[in-house]
Amino acid sequence: MMNKKIESAFNDQINAELFSDYLYLAMAAHLESENLKGMAHWMKVQADEEFEHAKRFVDFIHDRDGKVKYAAIEAPKGKWASPLEAFKEAYEHEQYISKRIHELMDLAIAEKDYPAQEFLHWFVSEQVEEEASTLEIVGKLEMVGDSKNGLFMMDHELGKREDD
Ligand code: FEO
Repeated sequence: MMNKKIESAFNDQINAELFSDYLYLAMAAHLESENLKGMAHWMKVQADEEFEHAKRFVDFIHDRDGKVKYAAIEAPKGKWASPLEAFKEAYEHEQYISKRIHELMDLAIAEKDYPAQEFLHWFVSEQVEEEASTLEIVGKLEMVGDSKNGLFMMDHELGKREDD
């Protein structure tokens, strides 16, 4: 029988991961419309990852004989002032998700739910990577500034991201 507090918090996290999926799809659509197909590709791969994250929580709840409950997903915004603004928001969003994962870990520890703690370790490490990768891109875009050549090169580089 799954701990009810953990079940409820994990269901909320499914919604947060699906919103992340939606947010990155919205960023991809915006970048695509700006002719930045490489950056749009990077965002689509990121969105796919978020869907996988949501599924991990779904599978865990099922494995623990809990009940999955889907809630409405908030609409993301559809426009960003620049690629830098989009990636900055992605970095801030990842920091927010890390905070949520840490709070889930706090709850799992308080509830002495050892399987949940073990499960969440993967996400703690994953969030370190998620923050690092978005921050690295923010740093490069800041370096590039208004240079069209620089943006072109960044678009090319980000277009090479492989599916994880
Ligand atoms: Fe699922 Fe980007 O955190």
